[in-house]
Amino acid sequence: MTVPGKVKRRVEELRREIEYHNYRYYVLDQPVISDAEYDSLMAELQRLEQRYPELVTPESPTQRIGAPPSEAFAPVRHDVPMLSLDNAFTEQDIHDFERRIKERLGVGTIDYSTEPKLDGLAVTIVYEEGHLVRAATRGDGYTGEDVTANVRTIRSIPLRLQGSGWPDRFEARGEVFMPIEGFRQLNEWAERHGEKTFANPRNAAAGSLRQLDPKVTARRPLDFFCYGFGIFPEERLPPTHHEMLDQFLSWGIPVAPERSLVQGADGCLSYYRDMLNRREDLPYETDGVVYKVDRFDWQHQLGYTARAPRWAIAHKFPAHEATTVVEDIEVQVGRTGILTPVAKLRPVQVGGVTVSSASLHNFEEMKRKDVRIGDTVVIRRAGDVIPEVVQVIVEKRPDDARAIEPPKRCPVCASEVVADPGGTLIRCSGGLFCPAQLKASIKHFASRRAMDIDGLGEKLIDQLLEKGLIKDIADLYNLDADQLASLERMGPKSAQNLIEALEKSKHTTLARFLYALGIREVGEVTAQILADHFRSLDKLKAAGEEELEQIPSIGPIVAKHIVAFFRQPHNLEVIRRLLEAGIHWETPEDTSKARPLEGKTFVFTGTLSSMSRDEAKEKLESLGGKVTGSVSRKTDFVVAGKDPGSKFDKARKLGVNILDEEQFLDLLQQNSSS
Ligand code: IVH
Repeated sequence: MTVPGKVKRRVEELRREIEYHNYRYYVLDQPVISDAEYDSLMAELQRLEQRYPELVTPESPTQRIGAPPSEAFAPVRHDVPMLSLDNAFTEQDIHDFERRIKERLGVGTIDYSTEPKLDGLAVTIVYEEGHLVRAATRGDGYTGEDVTANVRTIRSIPLRLQGSGWPDRFEARGEVFMPIEGFRQLNEWAERHGEKTFANPRNAAAGSLRQLDPKVTARRPLDFFCYGFGIFPEERLPPTHHEMLDQFLSWGIPVAPERSLVQGADGCLSYYRDMLNRREDLPYETDGVVYKVDRFDWQHQLGYTARAPRWAIAHKFPAHEATTVVEDIEVQVGRTGILTPVAKLRPVQVGGVTVSSASLHNFEEMKRKDVRIGDTVVIRRAGDVIPEVVQVIVEKRPDDARAIEPPKRCPVCASEVVADPGGTLIRCSGGLFCPAQLKASIKHFASRRAMDIDGLGEKLIDQLLEKGLIKDIADLYNLDADQLASLERMGPKSAQNLIEALEKSKHTTLARFLYALGIREVGEVTAQILADHFRSLDKLKAAGEEELEQIPSIGPIVAKHIVAFFRQPHNLEVIRRLLEAGIHWETPEDTSKARPLEGKTFVFTGTLSSMSRDEAKEKLESLGGKVTGSVSRKTDFVVAGKDPGSKFDKARKLGVNILDEEQFLDLLQQNSSS
């Protein structure tokens, strides 16, 4: 079958358009169309390619799903070796680096191009006539592995270049890495499917890129930032490194948005401090920053040592990971009875903080990682999260290392331990009879986002329980200042403060109160949803599972827990005493009436005669509606004023409701008066 010229042209047009949107989305992070619009371009291209298979080329955006698996990676020799970087750890190292450079060059001020040091793996990509023809790993620096088929699946890497002016043949070099969010999701998925999880994003990136089946790579959330070049015709080089990266970006090759241009060692150091501050907020992992003499003629003059350029240096951040020894494994009992193994560690510095215990998450996880008392382990602390054990260094395991088994009885109250239906978690069945659970539930009740009882901390709760002054949360409101003042580390003043904090906490909201009760699976968000929906505790108490499940975002499991909670006579009794003590709240507003357009999205096109777009937007939003910029299948209404634009046609094509100005005004009026 011959392909009509019209179809050929359309296919080419679609590919160009999709490539452009890939660039806007993956490289610049500035999409100009909605996901739905993108999907419809892609769908059209797929349709045409299915109909005319002879039009399919390996470069088509539809082919990013991966080529057939191969037996092994072919070796690739690097014409320009892929060198490493020297490392610096202190400010002094950076001053020394600059001094050496100045001595060699005999110049005064030096500009540096600064970049994040990405934690992934180095890859070189060859472009010929603007087409991606080969990609290879670094290997030993001289010979790497051909990973072309896999690199082609990385969405941010252009298969064809944008713009113009690229040399006939050149190499872009950079780091393939896995963004943290993608890494988290990948591990979550692997855990759910009983597959191997990765210790960190770097391992995940390496494991994903070195997959013999490119279809597997295609499903992994890999990304790429270019930081340099290999082969490149000398006469075509711009004068500086940062201009080179600008040029790469204009051709569609991604570079780190966090790069910068600074003056002298001091400029480098302030870049370092800035990036260190932002480290936890970046979407990818960095283990430091890299400084590069910006001028290519100076780079050339400085040259290389055997392993690294003299014109660049990596300034490392304090490590997120450290190794230490597991001295003990304790079992902690949480608020809902979950038993968690916690590794007690020989204290070690990680990222500037001393760490002496790390979560093992649950017994299954502990077993999977095979963590034993006496083991040497890698621990990791990122941001504010609780440090965790990443990996055991099995080679260092002593003969007397001891594995622990999940307990059959609660280590605190000796109640029977039961497995959750899901399988992974085990729980103490003691409920509030278990001192550990009772203590944790009181702590939760008093916490800032629950009843917010200022000054009621863990140590104080311990004492109150030990002395028998309280047996449950309701007893808190019977405490008097004299009793409190007699406790350790409490004087009359702090006792009085606590009494006042308790008094103040009595005035609360229904949502906070529900959250504070610690009903299983009812976190803050669910508590708010329940409060908005029922607006009264009595109505919620009376609700059955079916009624609860009618509420969007309340599933059968949550519904079961809620009903079970309010069926427990003990719970009802505690609630009764709390209310008797004076806990109260205002009835929540009836939000279902106040926000009748909740969840509805609107798009405007054309000019309205009775109000400005901003006014219209404000009105809609005050009724709960949302206004967006582009039409998709998810749009509920397109409001068309005078001279509507392409959004009108799009809405018609997608079958979205279109309102003219009069109908729109009617809608506003109907919903405001109710
Ligand atoms: S430049 C000849 N820039 O770090 C100069 N490397 O420790 C070669 N890396 O193999 C490297 N981010 O994999 C450079 N912005 C960056 C980098 C970077 C990460 C990696 C790269 C290299 C290793 C050297």
